[in-house]
Amino acid sequence: MSRIFYVNGSFVDEQDAKISVLDRGFLFADAVYEVCSVLNGKLIDNRAHLARLHRSLGELSMAAPCSDEEIVSTQRRLLELNSINEGLLYLQVSRGVADRDFSFPANPSSSFVMFTQQKNLMDNPAAKNGIRVISLPDIRWKRRDIKTVGLLAPSMAKQQALDAGANDAWMVEDGFITEGTSNNAYIVRHDKVIQTRHLGQEILSGITRDAVLRFAREAGYKVVEEPFTVDQVKTASEAFFTSASAFVTPVVGIDGVEIGSGKVGRVAIQLRDVYLETALEREEL
Ligand SMILES: Cc1ncc(COP(=O)(O)O)c(C=O)c1O
Repeated sequence: MSRIFYVNGSFVDEQDAKISVLDRGFLFADAVYEVCSVLNGKLIDNRAHLARLHRSLGELSMAAPCSDEEIVSTQRRLLELNSINEGLLYLQVSRGVADRDFSFPANPSSSFVMFTQQKNLMDNPAAKNGIRVISLPDIRWKRRDIKTVGLLAPSMAKQQALDAGANDAWMVEDGFITEGTSNNAYIVRHDKVIQTRHLGQEILSGITRDAVLRFAREAGYKVVEEPFTVDQVKTASEAFFTSASAFVTPVVGIDGVEIGSGKVGRVAIQLRDVYLETALEREEL
């Protein structure tokens, strides 16, 4: 069955899901996006994702395409049309179509698209086995707090990691890890201290990060929001990453060195379980 896409007010088949060549998202990466997971047909942390969407739009002086109520009803309809019970919902807003010019158009009309991906998120081998990362220089732009579609640098880093036989890259700037190519990075020290980089323009403020740090504090862990080095990862008791699509996933090696026991960490699994239990139990937000 072919997928139904949402494009500027219409639900259409994939072959009709089209955007102009002059769209500024295509020419300048002048677009922002969000990815939200779907579990048991529910959009997880959707309100927080929409809040971050508004922040990204605001930082780029871009208008929202419609009200949040309209966005949510469109999201629900798209999930229904594609019978998505578990998977992802992607949405993107660009500044719209204008003749190619670096300056922003005077009266832009945004382009708004959404699509779904059916996927097993909960039953993911990476959660059972952990993943291995390599460290690479962070060559991204300096406003990583804005969730734009300018993703070539992390895409190159991910490919470099795969080519090296690893699963992902943790990027390094000024000697400290910023984050993963599409996730936030953490180490656990002495089994009871969870350390992750502080928020700022150097990293994306992860929606999953926010929830997981809250659960970690509630579970009695000490949370330290400070950057860490590759050497600190190598000597940590465990490491993990968070993202909306992978929740909490253990990291068992970096640059060919095993982290802790080299096996999936207890803290990562505990936090993954709490995150998923809460997401499944509570009403859609
Ligand atoms: C660079 C980057 N950091 C962190 C994250 C994790 O954010 P979230 O938990 O909101 O998915 C993402 C998600 O796409 C990302 O691209």
